[in-house]
Amino acid sequence: MNQPRHLLTIADLDLETVASLCATAKLLDQDRTGRAANANLSQRVVALLFERPSTRTRLGFESGMAYLGGHAVSMSAGEFQFGHGTEDVTDAARAASQFVDGVLVRTGDHETLEQFTSAAEIPVVNALSDRAHPCEALADLYFLQSRFETIEGLPVTWVGDCTNVARSFASVCVLAGIDVRIACPPTYRFDDETIALIRSLGPGSLRFFDDPVSAVEGSAVVYTDVWTSMGQEDEREERLAAFSAYQVNSDLLSSAPDAIVMHCLPANRGKEITTSVLDGDRSVVWQQAKTRLPMQQAILEYVCT
Ligand code: CP
Ligand code: NVA
Repeated sequence: MNQPRHLLTIADLDLETVASLCATAKLLDQDRTGRAANANLSQRVVALLFERPSTRTRLGFESGMAYLGGHAVSMSAGEFQFGHGTEDVTDAARAASQFVDGVLVRTGDHETLEQFTSAAEIPVVNALSDRAHPCEALADLYFLQSRFETIEGLPVTWVGDCTNVARSFASVCVLAGIDVRIACPPTYRFDDETIALIRSLGPGSLRFFDDPVSAVEGSAVVYTDVWTSMGQEDEREERLAAFSAYQVNSDLLSSAPDAIVMHCLPANRGKEITTSVLDGDRSVVWQQAKTRLPMQQAILEYVCT
């Protein structure tokens, strides 16, 4: 039996596969029912197991499956039998493998996802864990490709927390030859192992800055995410204090006059980004969000066929 195609982190993919996913997403962007991309998931069923809330990721997978003629069964925490002591996660994976063609899992603990995957006989896709959000990052890369003539050497700056999204975004950017700068407090940087792994993924670069102003100078893109991710709610106050100098606001953007502004959403208006920037002329967050559908359809096509 062939090994199922899992997608837990960007490191699971090579550049050729990423390029192929972006090419398929481009065709699906023209026609979400899949004719242009020759994509068809009729008679295919996937399960969406969401331990944490979601708007974009869940809508992308559910509607993406439906447009391609397939079906998605969605379950939220409390509706499936693992994660609260009732069933071993590997038993749940073995059972799910008997019913559906793939499983998309959102969990707070990346190790749970790895355990689930170790026992799954069908493809498993990370729909966000505390460590990674590859579906977001692949959509973001496709967005950058559609926005810029060339992305090789593109200067992009991440401002704020080194979140799951930051890790996957930096990974896919380095893989694709993009120059990534991260402005964050030194104690919130990725650990050394993660930094080495990201740098090993491709020809792009990864540099850290304490000062957000120096980091954004000359950038084509300024990207941020929440300061308190799901599961970190107990640290909210200390994070607010630690990141207060890293807000994406009009002052900071005056040092990056050509930059567009990205955010994976949901945004915490008035915290990591001001409302005037999020709703302003430089913000591309809604166009960015729109790419989630074609990219997640491309991912479904990749893992299910
Ligand atoms: N960006 C993102 O993944 O959004 P959701 O949490 O709403 O899915
Ligand atoms: N870093 C955020 C991303 C949400 C899409 C979180 O994990 O809550």
